[in-house]
Amino acid sequence: MSRQPLRLAVLEAERILAAAGIASSRADAELLAAHVLGMERGRLPMVPLVDPAVVESLRKLVTERARRVPLQHLTGTAAMGDVEVAVGPGVFVPRPETELLLGWGLSLLHDIEDGTAPLVIDLCTGSGVLALALAHARPDAEVHAVESDPVALSWARRNADARAAIGDTAIWLHAGDVADPALLAPFDGMAHLVLSNPPYVPLGTDVAPEVARHDPHGAVFAGADGLAVIPDVVRTGTRLLREGGAIAIEHDDGHAAAVHGMLAARRVLTDVDDHADLAGRPRFATARRRVSPR
Ligand SMILES: C[S@@+](CC[C@H](N)C(=O)[O-])C[C@H]1O[C@@H](n2cnc3c(N)ncnc32)[C@H](O)[C@@H]1O
Repeated sequence: MSRQPLRLAVLEAERILAAAGIASSRADAELLAAHVLGMERGRLPMVPLVDPAVVESLRKLVTERARRVPLQHLTGTAAMGDVEVAVGPGVFVPRPETELLLGWGLSLLHDIEDGTAPLVIDLCTGSGVLALALAHARPDAEVHAVESDPVALSWARRNADARAAIGDTAIWLHAGDVADPALLAPFDGMAHLVLSNPPYVPLGTDVAPEVARHDPHGAVFAGADGLAVIPDVVRTGTRLLREGGAIAIEHDDGHAAAVHGMLAARRVLTDVDDHADLAGRPRFATARRRVSPR
């Protein structure tokens, strides 16, 4: 069989994905083609013709994507900050909106005086992506990450080993539940930064098939009101913070007032603030641990 124009194969992939109701059909078709060819998406225009085997591999992946298997399960990776992590069945696929939480945390660490190694804690780490992106951007930081699901934790371990093998500062992974009052007790009052993207979707919410069928249930849903886990994150995170340290928690766009209220109710916290995502929806809340008067 003769070589075929890549452009036509990608157009056909886009058509199939659009017909399956995938809004990002063009991006997904191009990303799957780039994955098959082992190159960056931006370099596709430099490939005029491809072997029939490439077209066949692309067709198989497009068939899976049209069945609403997440793009990241097909490519095997997801990105955050300057790192890529492996993802697949049993672990939450990191979302672009969580970049904002990471960015806020990193800007906070800029303000820490020179020579101090920041202590950072990521509660509900999933694939480990936030902790690993932080450790990459701030190699001087001591980063701890907590996860309760053993399958997710095994993905985090695999990702942590891979990042350490290419020279990033190693992170510390802990099997644990944010509801545990003794979680990370040796670090009480020591953290410069606590970050968390916990499960927060109310049970019964209509979510995309990729989420309903492929993200772990306990990574997405958190009780009837979506607030089954965040109070524990607030309680544990507050306990771990040092004076002047900060906490940032991602939440559902309907939870801004509730999460703000939980942070404001802690007398040791101050500077409670709300942050929107790129679409202008409330997405995460932050606060600082009060500094005692000397
Ligand atoms: C929304 S996912 C976020 C994962 C990762 N932080 C990210 O942004 O991609 C939430 C994670 O919290 C974990 N989790 C749920 N309840 C927990 C709990 N009580 N204690 C610790 N981890 C929990 C889930 O297993 C899941 O991996």
